[in-house]
Amino acid sequence: MLTKDEVIELLNPVKDPHLHVTLKETGGIEEVKIKEEKQHVSVKIGIAKPNTAEQMQLQNELVEILKKSGASTVGLRFSQLPDFIINKFAGETEKEEPKTLLNSPNPPKFIAVASGKGGVGKSTVTVNLAIALARLGRKVGIIDADIYGFSVPDMMGIDKRPSVEGNKIHPVERFGVKVISMGFFVEDNSPIIWRGPMLGKMFNSFFKEVDWGELDYLLLDLPPGTGDMAMNVQETLPSCKEIIVTTPHPTAAFVASRAGQMAIKARHEILGVIENMSYYDSKKTGEREYIFGKGGGDKLAETLDTVVVGRLPIEQPYDNEDEFAPSVYQEDHPLGIAYKEIAAEIADHLEE
Ligand SMILES: Nc1ncnc2c1ncn2[C@@H]1O[C@H](COP(=O)(O)OP(=O)(O)OP(=O)(O)O)[C@@H](O)[C@H]1O
Ligand SMILES: [Mg+2]
Repeated sequence: MLTKDEVIELLNPVKDPHLHVTLKETGGIEEVKIKEEKQHVSVKIGIAKPNTAEQMQLQNELVEILKKSGASTVGLRFSQLPDFIINKFAGETEKEEPKTLLNSPNPPKFIAVASGKGGVGKSTVTVNLAIALARLGRKVGIIDADIYGFSVPDMMGIDKRPSVEGNKIHPVERFGVKVISMGFFVEDNSPIIWRGPMLGKMFNSFFKEVDWGELDYLLLDLPPGTGDMAMNVQETLPSCKEIIVTTPHPTAAFVASRAGQMAIKARHEILGVIENMSYYDSKKTGEREYIFGKGGGDKLAETLDTVVVGRLPIEQPYDNEDEFAPSVYQEDHPLGIAYKEIAAEIADHLEE
């Protein structure tokens, strides 16, 4: 006659029909009783979903196993497993999270471009640095995280919208860079009003609902200052690196240092300071003019204990009617070359 231990041994490998793990793992064999004289085995089994068609099948399976091994009659009772056990295994099987940039085993390097003040050139830097990294052969994406003041699509001359397939959004690609921007989802450049919680959700969906494919770098163009969006980035991307943009004006550098301090508090590595609009080489006089003053970048770098990775003059991209992109410096443009040097330096540092 079967013993209690033998019954447990026999039923242990049977799988819970909903959780797809064995009764041994779920602790689903809750009680075994044996009436020797009648060779009757009765068992109480806990499963995730009792009273379903799957329970009927399981019932047949259990009866067959026990009868084959010597039981003449089998009594079965079913109960529901405790929630914590169901949740434990449902987490592994049914609720398997789709892969996104945030939980990818091989995530890109995140680089946020921040500043204290508006209008110092964050978006210009984001766009051109991203394109420079792409020119160096990296797979690059941009999140235009300036949800109210989005400008990346216009700067890159993007007139397409992302395509949507199932519940995935495909970013728009130009100059080898994949771009997602709030601007793609707004009609006619109308203003947007997002409240705090919506902002966070929107930001998250830029990661979760966008099919980025494989990326080496993802750059984030932040709105100016130290507001909600900067907070979102710090919470969502603990490993994010930052570049702080400033003009050479002392006030701009002073204000930018707040953005830098915030990055430091969040333990975001600051890759360096870019001093934008550093000077203007006058075509007329041939002289270098320091239109916005001098020294802001150095001062900021010193405050933040980092380095100035670039000093970019005031200059427009070449006119290019074939390839309209008002803020993109061409590869052979002095600023295109400068951006490539900064990109190479950053890649060297992050890929060593
Ligand atoms: N080095 C430069 N030479 C000439 N113009 C520049 C340079 N850098 C930026 N600009 C121009 O300055 C303006 C502001 O730049 P940009 O929009 O990149 O700044 P921002 O910091 O992103 O601004 P916001 O805070 O509004 O997002 C734009 O018109 C841009 O084309
Ligand atoms: Mg901007």
